[in-house]
Amino acid sequence: MSVVSTMEILSDAFARRYGVAAFNIVNDLTLEAVISAASELRAPLIVQTSVKTVKSIGLRPLYAMFRAFAEPAPIPIALHLDHCPDRAMISACLAQGYNSVLFDGSHLPSVEENKRQTLEVVAEARRAGAHVEGEIEGITGVEDGIGSDLLADIYSLETAVDFVRSTGVDVFAPAIGNAHGVYKAEPVLDVQRVSDIVAQVPVPICLHGGTGLSPRQFDDLIARGCAKVNISTALKLAYMRAHRDFFERHPEHGDPPTLMKFVRERVLATAKEHIALFHSEGKAA
Ligand code: 13P
Repeated sequence: MSVVSTMEILSDAFARRYGVAAFNIVNDLTLEAVISAASELRAPLIVQTSVKTVKSIGLRPLYAMFRAFAEPAPIPIALHLDHCPDRAMISACLAQGYNSVLFDGSHLPSVEENKRQTLEVVAEARRAGAHVEGEIEGITGVEDGIGSDLLADIYSLETAVDFVRSTGVDVFAPAIGNAHGVYKAEPVLDVQRVSDIVAQVPVPICLHGGTGLSPRQFDDLIARGCAKVNISTALKLAYMRAHRDFFERHPEHGDPPTLMKFVRERVLATAKEHIALFHSEGKAA
């Protein structure tokens, strides 16, 4: 199975209304853990990286590491670049072999300019055999240095539909009251917006800000067309807290592989919990 195109994964998920976990990984440990989690549950997987992660590891070593872990896996896996406003970074990742990119033009001065640039990104991605996620509204919350805590302007349904149609993006990420990071209050989601968009342009919807949503919210949104479900903060917290817990238990421990094994188990368990919520075979497992 191993590495396949993003739309090979998402077309099936969208048609059959299940969700595919798109996990933001930060290093080899988190990459291996999410691939093992999805493999154990026989679920397809999207591995995604923020621009910050690409810069911290380096594009070539990161891509080589992805291929090395993904190729032997018994499940379909795609590599996706999360929120990227930087066209040069988009080009570099497409040239390196990423399966898809999220061109984040939500900061641009107008939707028209976002459309113009997204069209260019779609053309570039097609030449590379890759796919594109698009967005017109910033998702609330700063993730790896990108985004804003301010509530974004929400555009009309017509504007959103026109953006998807005229750019030809493969996946669309609307703002529906979701937010990156830890929800400070119970999120009030405009789930109808997902149904309204999908009714007019049947493209898989990406649900950003997955951390902290309830199983019922996931079920409802996936049934409406959110085939790609982004999870970052939950994994980061599992990773960070595992380090803290390990050193609380073993303050003088000096063996990194023992620490890494402990952290990996926590990240793997968190990934499995999420996959099991989104994917039917994962649910049955
Ligand atoms: P969380 O950090 O809330 O899980 O959101 C992830 C995300 O949407 C990545 O783009």
